Amino acid sequence: MTERLPGYRPPARWLHWITAAAVLLMIPAGLIMTREGIPRPLQDALFLFHKNTGVVLVPVILARIAYRLTHRPPPLPVSVPGWQRRAAGLSHALLYVLLVVMPVSGFVRVRSGGFPIELLDRLGAGPWLAKSERLADIAQGIHAAGAFVLIAVLALHIAAAAQHALIRRDGVWSRMWPVGGS
Ligand code: HEM
Ligand code: HEM
Repeated sequence: MTERLPGYRPPARWLHWITAAAVLLMIPAGLIMTREGIPRPLQDALFLFHKNTGVVLVPVILARIAYRLTHRPPPLPVSVPGWQRRAAGLSHALLYVLLVVMPVSGFVRVRSGGFPIELLDRLGAGPWLAKSERLADIAQGIHAAGAFVLIAVLALHIAAAAQHALIRRDGVWSRMWPVGGS
């Protein structure tokens, strides 16, 4: 049965779905653009999309974290067991950490590798980091490991959301969906 629950406020919902849409496009773009043997024009287009969307997303992510730190999330329905509350809290915290680690490591990997970020270059921003193969390698390792963890946590996150929306219908889904709910 769907409980009538207080939902996330509209800014939290919109910031969630804008970030989610961008991240869910950037992950396949990142995975495809790093594959051997894909056509060069496609690879260039995906790199352009991936790097620049990632940079545009940074202020959205910062706004989201600032909003979250100043607004407590609404309480979960009483029907959600303790272990699921803890799992949700932990996975949400991990997602926020990854939303910082991924753009920062991507940025450091690209800039210390001496590569362009077209949007920032157009705006006349300097490289901000000196070229360093070692730093680029470390950042690349962090970005790849972060991507792995992010994909795993998101698989659980999306499965949990689908379970709430389709099976339990306990109002958790409509707390976050931008239309409807209270
Ligand atoms: C199809 C994709 C997605 C679905 C269906 C979905 C669904 C949801 C739902 C229903 C909630 C509310 C949970 C609750 O009430 O406790 C939520 C919260 C959250 N989601 Fe997602 N999500 C998706 C993608 C993402 C992505 C890509 C990210 C980040 C990379 C993300 C990060 C978060 C975070 C951090 C929260 C906790 C919000 C807070 O309490 O501050 N989600 N998501
Ligand atoms: C939320 C933000 C981001 C997500 C979810 C994300 C995700 C990914 C994924 C899944 C990959 C493929 C796995 C890998 O090879 O590491 C990747 C690769 C890559 N990403 Fe990101 N990324 C993000 C932000 C950025 C940003 C802001 C930049 C640069 C400005 C960037 C630059 C790169 C580069 C250069 C690669 C290829 C790594 C290599 O050299 O093999 N990413 N990213």
